[in-house]
Amino acid sequence: MTTLTPVLTGNWDQADSFTRAGYERGGGYKALRKAFGMDPDGIVQAVKDSGLRGRGGAGFPTGMKWGFLPPSSPNPRYLVVNADESEPGTCKDIPLMMANPHVLIEGTIISSFAIRSNVAFIYVRGEVLHVIRRLHQAVAEAYEAGYLGKDILGSGYDLDIVVHSGAGAYICGEETALLDSLEGFRGWPRLKPPFPAVAGLYGGPTVINNVESIASVPSIVGNGPEWFAAMGTEKSQGFGIFSLSGHVTRPGQYEAPLGITLRELLDMAGGIRAGHRLKFWTPGGSSTPIFTDEHLDVPLDFESVGAAGSMLGTRALQIFDETTCVVRAVLRWSEFYAHESCGKCTPCREGTYWYKLMLKRLEAGQGTEEDLETLLDISDNILGRAFCALGDGATSPVVSSIKLFRAEYLQHFEQGRCPFDPAESTLWGGAK
Ligand SMILES: Cc1cc2nc3c(=O)[nH]c(=O)nc-3n(C[C@H](O)[C@H](O)[C@H](O)COP(=O)(O)O)c2cc1C
Ligand code: SF4
Repeated sequence: MTTLTPVLTGNWDQADSFTRAGYERGGGYKALRKAFGMDPDGIVQAVKDSGLRGRGGAGFPTGMKWGFLPPSSPNPRYLVVNADESEPGTCKDIPLMMANPHVLIEGTIISSFAIRSNVAFIYVRGEVLHVIRRLHQAVAEAYEAGYLGKDILGSGYDLDIVVHSGAGAYICGEETALLDSLEGFRGWPRLKPPFPAVAGLYGGPTVINNVESIASVPSIVGNGPEWFAAMGTEKSQGFGIFSLSGHVTRPGQYEAPLGITLRELLDMAGGIRAGHRLKFWTPGGSSTPIFTDEHLDVPLDFESVGAAGSMLGTRALQIFDETTCVVRAVLRWSEFYAHESCGKCTPCREGTYWYKLMLKRLEAGQGTEEDLETLLDISDNILGRAFCALGDGATSPVVSSIKLFRAEYLQHFEQGRCPFDPAESTLWGGAK
């Protein structure tokens, strides 16, 4: 049985976990002192050796990303922390920043030092005012303690952190749209290459990492890369926050080694809500193909989830029991994608619009079997042809649900109505 590994979440049960005093009491900011005794390239190497892979969804090796920065450039280098967390089901960065913002601040300082940047930005989702206030407070405390500003702890190293709040657009979590937004433009994805490591924020070499990736750095520096690499699986090392939501007895954030299974997580979370059974779930948020109860024992690491036909994504485990209409769930997600599509490219802008219209009809029992083929055809036209990964993500729930639950789609138009009682499901309410 895999057990929990509370590292980032270790102090969440303490009343003052979000203060500098509370963080330091548990050993906070010790890794920073250790880092200043190391060569910046040595820190990059330690992160490479740890095997840490980006926790923002794609799982790109973090140390390798840092290594892509050109050795010299006329422009300043930047670290940008992606705290835009907006994927349906994803709820790890926001609770982490609320409960333990200093681990992110410490990680930001060490990471900036490692890549030789003197300005770092934390781009935070605009709707979460409580988190924005908490981050501002933590940054102010770090300046007061001499962890930020000029000549940090007598190291000769200077760093400023800017907390920037977005305006509530999912697309601004896409790293290049985020950069445009940070520069004051409308958040539209940029054409790559050039990659941000070469020409990113204000044209300077830029590293963009997820909150959880950066927050993992102090523990790697403090305990050594071997300690981190000893957890998880061969190619997906370390721990991560698994967010369980939906029809589960004790929803919440469970920090565990990569490779844990949903069955094990559900055991810790008290199982599916009483009297019900698992119907379908997302392993990594709404942009990842859905799984069913046949996938309860798939190890939740990048390779195993991929081999089983989905993606680990952000480890956002949205759990749905048998009272949930899968067509309705997919309609809800598709409404989200249609609303959040930035409109820059045709396949995604038009495709998500048609998804929404057709799924509405299908859910109401007014579709035809031919509509399912049309939905798959639209998906073919989006997948791999959209300008950014939002479009690809939008196809995941549609294609996977038709594959796994075709009979339920058919049932809708055979009966001429949705066969589910919306009042029975605690997730979707009665409103259509
Ligand atoms: C539509 C869209 C939204 C995204 N939202 C986020 C987000 O909120 N947070 C995040 O870290 N990454 C998000 N990403 C992924 C980022 O583009 C990028 O891969 C990530 O920030 C890299 O960090 P990592 O290497 O530490 O995972 C999003 C991607 C897309 C396509
Ligand atoms: S895929 Fe969608 S979100 Fe991405 S650029 Fe195209 S229209 Fe915008």
